[in-house]
Amino acid sequence: MDATAVAHANIALVKYWGKIDTAANIPAVGSLSLTLSNLWTRTSVNFRRPLKEDRVFINEHRARPAVMKKVVHFLDEVRRRTETDRYCEVRSINSFPTAAGMASSASGFAALAVAAMHAAGHPLTPTDASALARLGSGSAARSIFGGFAELPGGDPANAPAAIQIADEHFWPLTVLVAITDDTPKPVSSRTAMEMTKLHSPFYAAWVDTAGRDLETMRAAVLRRDLETVGALAEHSALKMHGLMMSARPGLLYWNPGTVAVIQEVLNLRKEGLAVYFTIDAGPQVKVLCRRRDKATVADRLLALSGVRSLMLCRPGPSARVEEDV
Ligand code: PMV
Repeated sequence: MDATAVAHANIALVKYWGKIDTAANIPAVGSLSLTLSNLWTRTSVNFRRPLKEDRVFINEHRARPAVMKKVVHFLDEVRRRTETDRYCEVRSINSFPTAAGMASSASGFAALAVAAMHAAGHPLTPTDASALARLGSGSAARSIFGGFAELPGGDPANAPAAIQIADEHFWPLTVLVAITDDTPKPVSSRTAMEMTKLHSPFYAAWVDTAGRDLETMRAAVLRRDLETVGALAEHSALKMHGLMMSARPGLLYWNPGTVAVIQEVLNLRKEGLAVYFTIDAGPQVKVLCRRRDKATVADRLLALSGVRSLMLCRPGPSARVEEDV
């Protein structure tokens, strides 16, 4: 009746943005991500106590109403699948700032899917856990898997789950997460995606070009070709942010620190280092480099006044249930 699970956040190297089916949360485009070692959510779910409603705590605080609504909706699906009518208590801790564009919804819903189904006595296979996590947040489907994962998109008849392309030992890359603002972002990805889909003149081109990006990225990851992976990750991120900026009203998640990190990455590349950036729906910048270059890159990023802190990651593991200690 209770269980604890840990899942790690991921960064998309080819981005998911836009849904083909909003209710079933089916992405319009396929995406490919890297799971991160030091960005994780640990979630405990307890159906044991008789409760009159679900109780949700994030980082020891009661969840805000908007978050509560999403989590209860997700728990209703767990109750439907497990034929339970009990409410539960959920306690979730993040190792990094919540809802600030650092993929807390990815690790959060992945950990919740695994913990809730386990607590309800119906542990899932990774593929089924991924399809369930997707209902909470598209990117959460990928956080079930360690290393590199791909989430197919574009098929409304098929409720997709992510697939692992390579595990966390395949390629020892470093990802530095440059935090430029740790407060929650003003517009959720869910709302922002809908605004872009409805109001950007470039949305059709985004969908049209996504398939080729995904094919190229998958092949480059499997060759461990950092130059191609990095250049395409930057392209996918800039294309997604350009799309958001072209919505009406336009959406800009960046701050001066975000731009400063991008420029420093370009400077490092001019100096001959293989260093690349990507940015999700928020102002933080994730910087990809070889392990041997991480100290040089970290020093340069920390010297920027817009960088509040830096988290160093390597490829992270799959979501898992924690045994009681
Ligand atoms: O999974 P969501 O609804 O939080 O959306 C994720 C969107 C991006 O992080 C910007 C891109 C991605 O593929 O993770």
